[in-house]
Amino acid sequence: MSIETVDSIGYVVALEGTKIRVNLLEGHKGQLASHRRGVSSVSQPGDLIGLDAGTNLVVARVTDMAFVDPDKAHTSNVGTMNVTDTPLRQLIAYSIGYVYQDGASRKFISESWKLPTLGAKAIPLSSDYLETIYGVNEDEKESTIELGRDSRTKTTKINVGLNSLLSRHLAVLGSTGYGKSNFNALLSQRIREKFKSSRLVIFDINGEYADAFIGQARVKETILGSVPIPSPDIFDGRHPVYHRIPYQAFGYAGLIKLLRPSDKTQLPALRNALKSLHMVCAGNNGTILTGETIPPSTTQNWFELVDDCRQDGQEQLSKWLMKLRSNSLGHFPTWPPFKALANLVAEFGCQAFMPNGTSKRDAFSYGNVLPLVKIIQQLVDDPRFNNVVNLSGGQAINNPTAMWGEEIEKEVDYIFGKKSGEVQDWDVHIINLKNIADDHSPMILGSLLEMYADVLFKRGQDKNYPTMLLLEEAHHYLRDPFSEESAQLKAYERLAKEGRKFNCSLLVSTQRPSELSSTVLAMCSNWISLRLTNERDINALRHAIENGNEHTLSEISGLPRGDAIGFGSAFNIPIRFSIDEAKPKPKSSDAAFASIWS
Ligand SMILES: Nc1ncnc2c1ncn2[C@@H]1O[C@H](COP(=O)(O)OP(=O)(O)OP(=O)(O)O)[C@@H](O)[C@H]1O
Ligand SMILES: [Mg+2]
Repeated sequence: MSIETVDSIGYVVALEGTKIRVNLLEGHKGQLASHRRGVSSVSQPGDLIGLDAGTNLVVARVTDMAFVDPDKAHTSNVGTMNVTDTPLRQLIAYSIGYVYQDGASRKFISESWKLPTLGAKAIPLSSDYLETIYGVNEDEKESTIELGRDSRTKTTKINVGLNSLLSRHLAVLGSTGYGKSNFNALLSQRIREKFKSSRLVIFDINGEYADAFIGQARVKETILGSVPIPSPDIFDGRHPVYHRIPYQAFGYAGLIKLLRPSDKTQLPALRNALKSLHMVCAGNNGTILTGETIPPSTTQNWFELVDDCRQDGQEQLSKWLMKLRSNSLGHFPTWPPFKALANLVAEFGCQAFMPNGTSKRDAFSYGNVLPLVKIIQQLVDDPRFNNVVNLSGGQAINNPTAMWGEEIEKEVDYIFGKKSGEVQDWDVHIINLKNIADDHSPMILGSLLEMYADVLFKRGQDKNYPTMLLLEEAHHYLRDPFSEESAQLKAYERLAKEGRKFNCSLLVSTQRPSELSSTVLAMCSNWISLRLTNERDINALRHAIENGNEHTLSEISGLPRGDAIGFGSAFNIPIRFSIDEAKPKPKSSDAAFASIWS
């Protein structure tokens, strides 16, 4: 279609800097302009209009519309314009790019420097032009994902290139109930339909996503937590696996982060405790023991480690701690219970040397490590923590020098999938996190991400299978819950910053972008924003996106359910579109008050 064949609806009467003034022809009145190739409207600010610039078509976004007095308007008879007494309709638009013909195909370049000439024809954009403008780069034509239709005309399909969308991270934002889960489910489904070897891991906070994959192969659901919650008809025909994370899978560094010792006295005690774990075991009645057999004797010589600073056996304490410190005791065949950490921390923390070479448990020093001992004991006693994290130990220790690494890798293989080249029995892993208490989710999920980041970096760039990690309700755990330790680089920030190089793409979904780590938000290269009403949330978005497009941002607070604005590297221009409905849908969280109450 050449530009000449399209009826013009107006013409350019002024160029003021980048501001383009267009007078509409009498017949069009700025209402819906339609023609045989589809419909595009220029009746509202935000709409797009085409302006003839010779070989190119300049595309401009309308920002203002007004009546102008005909006397003040351009009065010569350009085009078919007749100056009558009726006021003129005038548009103000800003150039956002241009379309040009490249051989057989048409291309859109998003550059605002190209302007039409005075008097240039203004034409409505047909849907094939819109497809070019909203479309994807030539090199990604074969690997696109359809997300929905443009909101205004509902005729133009909105496609994005998969690589542009995922090669850096994607943020999906929106107030509760406006369609984030629907979008995430839709995207996952469309990726799977088109890309047979895709791998997705979903942190499903509310247990909604299983429904969206029913009837599909190679999907696995794991419910974190040991106690099945009876819910007969929800996971119809499916068998979720119940899984608890063994505490040692958090790793040496992960447990230090989890327990947050104070630097001065608690950290050294905890370090020693973690390094000694393989040399202690559980005895009867909850006792924690260490011991050795000195040949030729065959009987084990035991020492009880206590967590309460009592005086029994204190003379022997330093002798045994020395052995633990120097790693000179043999290792037990299995991991001790988590509780052993409390005893080890207490003993390493309270030890005091006596002038005569013996030792004692010193109450003052004990007081310094007591808060840490209490934290460990509280976690042991907390049924909600126990439900998700396996604290009982008992897994085999084969080689003490590799014991931490092995446990982390096993867990990462299970949750996030094995490395490239290894056999994997699922493509989608839904990790149902509904059993995790809100106050534990930052530390547990933070630690899981920490483990993943650790293993990714160890595996190296080529070894990690490309994985999309969908993080629902990310504001719960992608933020620093203990802001006083802000100097520490958080695992998720590491993932966000460098995950791309390791073939890991994050999809961060949240209703509170202002509560999300700003690093994570800024590391995203694409944003899909559904309706956001809170000023702070909109501001967070404003700070994260490179060229804050005020007009686009102002639309966000008025979007209806299911409508979103997409912007970033996968989109030529910020696009407002209506998201398709996921089929099947994720479990909706809308409460049905009326039907249940009636
Ligand atoms: N594009 C859409 N088309 C039709 N219906 C939609 C669309 N998006 C969402 N809905 C409907 O809106 C309801 C809420 O959507 P959804 O659960 O995706 O919201 P949410 O943003 O994830 O909310 P929350 O923050 O509470 O998790 C659902 O019943 C869903 O079916
Ligand atoms: Mg949701």
